[in-house]
Amino acid sequence: MPAPLLSIRNLRTYFHLDEGVLKAVDGVNLDLQPGQTLGIIGESGSGKSVMARSVMRLVMPPGRIAAGSQILLSVDGKDPLDIAQLPFESKALRQIRGRLISMIFQEPMTSLSPVHKVGFQIAEAALLHVTKDRKEARAIALDRLTRVGIPNPERTLEAYPHELSGGLRQRVMIAMALACRPKVLIADEPTTALDVTVQWQILRLMAELRDDFGMSILYITHDLGVVAQIAETVAVMYLGQIVETADVLTIFEHPQHPYTQSLLRSIPHVGRRSRERLEAIAGTVPMPINLPVRCRFADRCQSAFSDCFEVAPALVEGQPGHAVRCFLHSKEIEQHG
Ligand SMILES: Nc1ncnc2c1ncn2[C@@H]1O[C@H](COP(=O)(O)OP(=O)(O)OP(=O)(O)O)[C@@H](O)[C@H]1O
Ligand SMILES: [Mg+2]
Repeated sequence: MPAPLLSIRNLRTYFHLDEGVLKAVDGVNLDLQPGQTLGIIGESGSGKSVMARSVMRLVMPPGRIAAGSQILLSVDGKDPLDIAQLPFESKALRQIRGRLISMIFQEPMTSLSPVHKVGFQIAEAALLHVTKDRKEARAIALDRLTRVGIPNPERTLEAYPHELSGGLRQRVMIAMALACRPKVLIADEPTTALDVTVQWQILRLMAELRDDFGMSILYITHDLGVVAQIAETVAVMYLGQIVETADVLTIFEHPQHPYTQSLLRSIPHVGRRSRERLEAIAGTVPMPINLPVRCRFADRCQSAFSDCFEVAPALVEGQPGHAVRCFLHSKEIEQHG
């Protein structure tokens, strides 16, 4: 297997609040291979967006990446650069944002400017990193709008975001993220607000663009159906930690963590008998403040036993490529629980 393009090691992103330390991301390890799509899945509040923003170094105080965390980016066989250690205003960090790693945010209107035309906004992104020539930047904007399948790209260049439908705005966001041909695209729930047909088109489009541009994608969602369509590998997150990771087929056919199993039971299946109820996971995701050292899912888990309430399980790779954090599968205890 080639060296990972992005390698996250022991990532801990904490918010220092009056009530205590909120551990939004708490010891995450992940590898993203060149050309791979890695799906990150988990309920609301599991730390998906904070993890993504940490990779872009977009976490603001009172949030902070804790010492010892590493976010290693290794492009073109060069020595890996640790994004977690770069100073905020450094040139290296500016180079990474947009040029090497681009992000599509959860809500398009928060990252599109309402007072600038679409063409101008995409061209500005290209002017930051790719070219100094305004004409060329505009040509890039037109090319990206065409590639994302916008029906009338020339006219869209002249449109303001509020004049476009939700589906078109989402496509504009993707076009903007692709302005600099990034190596890594982080997509944070980019299709949540869209109806199913548009969602399906956008997913197909992203897979095509990944192949055209030779990118890797970190695709964040709470929708397992979306993950099944786009990802090769899946990491399941719960309360700031990865609880299970495997290739997409294994996650769907042989999920081992009770949390993954519950997530799977909560999605509708074609052919499910009409009287059968969809199962919602009991309880809610608590705030990750002052969590006791034990399995974080124990309170909501139907299979929990005494150990689960006393010590924290480690994430253990039982079979090659399939790791699970659960005492039903391994007795190994997390060292820094
Ligand atoms: N700026 C902030 N200040 C304080 N706490 C925050 C901040 N941003 C996120 N959090 C907390 O961090 C935890 C993880 O939040 P995050 O937004 O990463 O969840 P998520 O998995 O992306 O959820 P969703 O599916 O709803 O987008 C939550 O407990 C949240 O309340
Ligand atoms: Mg989020």
